[in-house]
Amino acid sequence: MRHKALFTTVAACATLAFAGAALAQQQKTDPGKREFEANCAVCHGKDGKGAGPYAAELKAKVPDLTTMAKRNGGVFPVAKAFAIIEGAGKGHGPREMPVWGLDYTVQAEQLLPEMPYNQAVYVRTRINALVEYLVRIQEK
Ligand code: HEC
Repeated sequence: MRHKALFTTVAACATLAFAGAALAQQQKTDPGKREFEANCAVCHGKDGKGAGPYAAELKAKVPDLTTMAKRNGGVFPVAKAFAIIEGAGKGHGPREMPVWGLDYTVQAEQLLPEMPYNQAVYVRTRINALVEYLVRIQEK
């Protein structure tokens, strides 16, 4: 009887520990979210709704990123989001948002000067992680 109770307790602890580790792992391996909170939340807000602490300093209104799908007939505009983050839209008028494609390219050169890596893939992967995160925070 005592053995059974002990076994149940041990099993419950193991399950909890496992769930905790899985959660920590999930948070650690969510590069899109991490990147968003580090580089975008200052303007777009931690929830993406456009009320970041720096938003008031800008002339442009910071858009609500959680309604991008809603504003596009219910379909998230993947290519548009990618282009805006990368910075391909510049030259079409003043732009207050930083050009991340350029930023990531510079970082790639600084971080991996000796590595035989593909710079374009590195930049695209980081932008894709952000786009994927934006898809997940869309209002239903
Ligand atoms: C300095 C403030 C600032 C930062 C930092 C910033 N943005 Fe923006 N973002 C803006 C502004 C302002 C706009 C509106 C267009 C413009 O004026 O450039 C915008 C527009 C966008 C749009 C287009 C939204 C739409 O509905 O058309 C996307 C997508 C976006 N930002 C994603 C991001 C991501 C991802 C990051 C982080 C890598 C980021 N932004 C960082 C200010 C910022």
